[in-house]
Amino acid sequence: MSNHDSVRPVEWSDDTLWLLDQRLLPAEEKRLAVRDVAAAADAIRSMVVRGAPAIGIAAAYGVALAVRELHARAGAGWRDALDAPLAALTEARPTAVNLSWAVARMRRRLLASDVAQPFAVALEEARRIHAEDVRDNRRMGTLGASLLTGTDSVLTHCNAGSLATGGYGTALGVVRACAEAGRLLNVYADETRPWLQGARLTAWELQRDGIPVTLICDAAAASLMQRRRIQAVLVGADRIARNGDVANKIGTYGLAIAARHHRVPFIVVAPTSTIDPAVACGADIPLEERPLDELVALAGHDLAPAGTAAWNPVFDVTPAALVSALVTERGVCRAPDRAGVDALLGRDVAAVT
Ligand code: MRU
Repeated sequence: MSNHDSVRPVEWSDDTLWLLDQRLLPAEEKRLAVRDVAAAADAIRSMVVRGAPAIGIAAAYGVALAVRELHARAGAGWRDALDAPLAALTEARPTAVNLSWAVARMRRRLLASDVAQPFAVALEEARRIHAEDVRDNRRMGTLGASLLTGTDSVLTHCNAGSLATGGYGTALGVVRACAEAGRLLNVYADETRPWLQGARLTAWELQRDGIPVTLICDAAAASLMQRRRIQAVLVGADRIARNGDVANKIGTYGLAIAARHHRVPFIVVAPTSTIDPAVACGADIPLEERPLDELVALAGHDLAPAGTAAWNPVFDVTPAALVSALVTERGVCRAPDRAGVDALLGRDVAAVT
């Protein structure tokens, strides 16, 4: 880890999954001990851990916890009861495909052969998923940084940083790669209502890692572009359809429209595990809606009169046509479309490194 890369939201030690409780940041830095699969699913549902790659990694360790429980209880019959806990993990949140991707990969590994020590095998696979994520983020960081020559300020939305991944981050991994190369970008962070991932998490992790960050309210983003204060928008993704449409945190679509209007490059940084080959276009991506109290109240205080009708979708879809470039660990796809996404999926990672 470098000076600009100090945050790890998911850790395994002492036979326990430790999750940095992101609900408490920036006020409190506390790790939550997760010792069974029900607690892992609950932590994902309640946003102790969030961000597409991070919830995939937490779910992978959750599968290992499930296997440990089932093997202790049922011995050789552990496989017969595997479906229910894996479904609970997969269903904890609907939009980020990394969750079902990680659970499916764990299942394949566990069911592939006669596994005498299933917990050891599951833990090893979860650790591999975790390590690969950090490695891929570093690759994307380098690839993304090469697109930002002549750039000194960028805008980001939500948190697509270390906290949202195994470490290093996707969109913020590009910022970290620039910093490691001696180029400190100024990052404007949208506060990202209603859960405030930008204010609470992006500002926290960048400040901690010595990267300049300037907070803006979401409504200031278009004006920031109009005044030419940024040269690129960098965001992550929760699920990318086969045609290149991108589901990400609510508000991303509006940013992409504003960026196109002002001719600012709109760059999506996401590992290929975020691409869902089973989904043809963005309209088929399930978009999570969360409880209204996350919108109409803040830290226990009402923000609207009691009884106010509200709608709280937490993701939206940006059409591929508004995306300037998709940066993955397998390479960069400019102006992504079905052919470009298929080419990425078919490409060998080794060819890019
Ligand atoms: O609701 P969240 O905080 O899980 O939403 C996270 C995002 O929308 C991120 O931008 C996305 O997961 C990419 S993280 C590398």
